[in-house]
Amino acid sequence: MSYQKVRSEWMMTYPAISDLAKLAQKRIPSIAWEYLSTGTGSEELLDRNLSAFRNIRFHPRFCLGAPHPKIATEVFGQSFSAPFGMAPIGLTGLMWPRAEMILGRAALRCGIPSTLSTLATETPETVGPHVGHRGWFQLYAPRKIEDARDILRRAKEAGYHTLVITVDIPLPSRRERTKRAGLSDRAKLSPALVWQAFTHPTWTYHTMRHGLPRLRTAESYSGFVQDMSVGEFVADQKGGNLTWDVCQQWAEEWDGPVMIKGLMHPDDARRAVDIGMDGIVVSNHGARQFDGAMAAIEALPAMVDAVGDQLTVVFDSGVRTGLDVMRALSLGADFVLLGRAFIYGVCALGEYGPDHAYQIICDEITNNMAQLGVKSISELKGLAHLHA
Ligand code: FNR
Repeated sequence: MSYQKVRSEWMMTYPAISDLAKLAQKRIPSIAWEYLSTGTGSEELLDRNLSAFRNIRFHPRFCLGAPHPKIATEVFGQSFSAPFGMAPIGLTGLMWPRAEMILGRAALRCGIPSTLSTLATETPETVGPHVGHRGWFQLYAPRKIEDARDILRRAKEAGYHTLVITVDIPLPSRRERTKRAGLSDRAKLSPALVWQAFTHPTWTYHTMRHGLPRLRTAESYSGFVQDMSVGEFVADQKGGNLTWDVCQQWAEEWDGPVMIKGLMHPDDARRAVDIGMDGIVVSNHGARQFDGAMAAIEALPAMVDAVGDQLTVVFDSGVRTGLDVMRALSLGADFVLLGRAFIYGVCALGEYGPDHAYQIICDEITNNMAQLGVKSISELKGLAHLHA
């Protein structure tokens, strides 16, 4: 089978990311669904990340000639077929076994970047050869610089191009929903998981073939205890002691572009410029860390103002449609990442699910750009406005 064979049928049955989300929820155990979809606290930010996009509106123009929008774009000297890519996701194999491989292969087919997390369930060596030198690698703070150095060496040798340093986890967040579901970030064979396995046979079959998800990169470093949850690992490794100096030290270890992910304050954006970063990812971690933050899209304009064109501004958190991508680009982002949307694709439709998610977003972008009367991504800048 190839995606081209199923594309028109899937476009009729699953024309939007929300359709993939519904199907994904049915196909995976509720423990995995809760891990994927949760926010934190009372989850106000989860809603706000989505609803804040609705206040950003365009003013369409007409009679401008045949509309054939071009959406290819360039970031860090690399050409991509579209102005968006895949955000890093940890404990990925819990949602779908070997999800990172599926995402990596799809990203290569589609011509977009995929980002591998330090806390992914596959290693850079396993996934790297599938992403074809356009992969991005995401680093969480190990406590020891030797460990960071080794992880970065491995990622580089596996062919990763761009480094993404995530800074917005000073401590693991509470994520009450995953606790209620019986997971608390930990992939362990609990009675709840066994019951879920019975009721989700396809997920179970693939999980049995591949084994329960493990943090295959992180587990090889000292300080990592076999039975430790993602949250405990992050807390143990960092203890909240990540500083700008440490970020700079890691960046110096990397031969290639470096971004800091998880910034929301303009002063932090300026700090990233000062320490010589190539880019920032404006993100609130998909509303998973601090429920009291503003929606990431609300933070974006001030971040863009703070840095001008001194570095590349990437945006994520709450993007579910091509129109959302256009809104972020219009407010000044150079590129956009989607986290959950691509995972919905994998869980709903398997190998070609992320291709379908990509196609949905591309179709929405090209259609909406034509409706708006713009022909290129660069024309979008400054076109949308806040209408409360
Ligand atoms: C994440 N995110 C994340 N970020 C990161 O830098 N490293 C990681 O390991 C993870 N893990 C992770 C797991 C899950 C299940 C989710 C949903 C998110 C955050 C992610 O990269 C991105 O910032 C958000 O997913 C963007 O929000 P949307 O697109 O999911 O709304």
